[in-house]
Amino acid sequence: MNSSSIFRDGLLAGQVALVTGGGSGIGFGIAEQLAGLGAHVVLASRSVERVEAAAERIVAVGGKASGVSVDVRDADRVREVVTDIAGSHGRLDILVNNAAGNFYVPSEQMSANAWRSVIEIDLNGTFFCSQAVMPVMRQQGGGRIINISMTLHYRGWPMMAHATAAKAGIDALTRTLAVEWASSRIRVNAIAPGPIPTEGVRKAFAAPLGGVDASGLAEAMTEHAERTIPLGRWGTPADIGQMVVYLASPGGDWITGSILVVDGGEWLSRPTVASMP
Ligand code: HXC
Ligand code: NAP
Repeated sequence: MNSSSIFRDGLLAGQVALVTGGGSGIGFGIAEQLAGLGAHVVLASRSVERVEAAAERIVAVGGKASGVSVDVRDADRVREVVTDIAGSHGRLDILVNNAAGNFYVPSEQMSANAWRSVIEIDLNGTFFCSQAVMPVMRQQGGGRIINISMTLHYRGWPMMAHATAAKAGIDALTRTLAVEWASSRIRVNAIAPGPIPTEGVRKAFAAPLGGVDASGLAEAMTEHAERTIPLGRWGTPADIGQMVVYLASPGGDWITGSILVVDGGEWLSRPTVASMP
């Protein structure tokens, strides 16, 4: 398995990874890479059907994987899942906080619940999962936490106040936990992906809302990406998965508190959404 990886076979053998939102898109790409190098990967999201089907795809090509249902907004359930993993596998080496929710909505029309939903999934979920794995990782002598952020908050990004605020919070959390937990040999880093055309992104663009027709945004973004990504292509889940492996590997042993942009140079050359046709 994983003959195309630049990493050596079996690099992560014997290790256990938890990937939230691992049943789709980027999370699945990350899970594939980790499993391809020998880790047992637990895929976790709200839909047990989705994560179990995704785990089966990994197992079908020779990897080790399982699925578990969790809503990362529920701190008690998150702790239960982590306790179960530690109990059944004896360890938990890698946490990838990838689960997120997102949709375009003008800020003045965003309901309190819409704001809360995205903040709770992205920011609270990242904190709850990190907090839950910490004692397990400390007790076993260390671990790696990798948060999936974004770059849209590096500049203003209209109609995404909730997600940009949440991801800015995740960046802050990454740096703070990196310092706070370094003495427990827990490394905490983040990856900021550029645009990767997953189902989740299509869904985030889909809804015409509150009198603002957002249905043309997907096409505008596609055209924008092809025109402006300096390295000339969209990203892929594998692009992110390989960076996760690097950060999780001994090669990343002296890296903590870093936020690594993996975006083909996109954000540096990006106009704001407001300036798109
Ligand atoms: C306005 C919306 C909305 C929309 C939901 N809401 N979708 N408001 N526009 N398109 C509002 C609802 O009306 C409700 O508020 C509140 O949000 C909660 O909605 P629910 O559907 O009840 O919530 P929940 O089941 O918690 O769903 C979570 C979700 C959903 C975030 C709302 O979209 C989801 O499950 N998303 C997962 C997939 C996803 O979004 N992936 C995107 C990742 S891509 P009221 O007031 O009515 O109760 C990404 C990067 C993009 O993050 C980068 C682009 C380049
Ligand atoms: P995606 O396929 O929609 O992934 C989101 C995942 O999160 C889904 O598997 C979903 O599964 C899970 N999830 C949502 N709410 C959850 C909850 N409350 N509890 C547990 N799991 C939950 O989208 P994606 O594009 O791959 O995004 C993955 C990550 O990359 C996100 O953090 C996103 O912000 C980030 N990102 C993406 C892009 C991009 O262009 N694609 C760019 C920058 C950053 P369930 O529905 O089963 O719960």
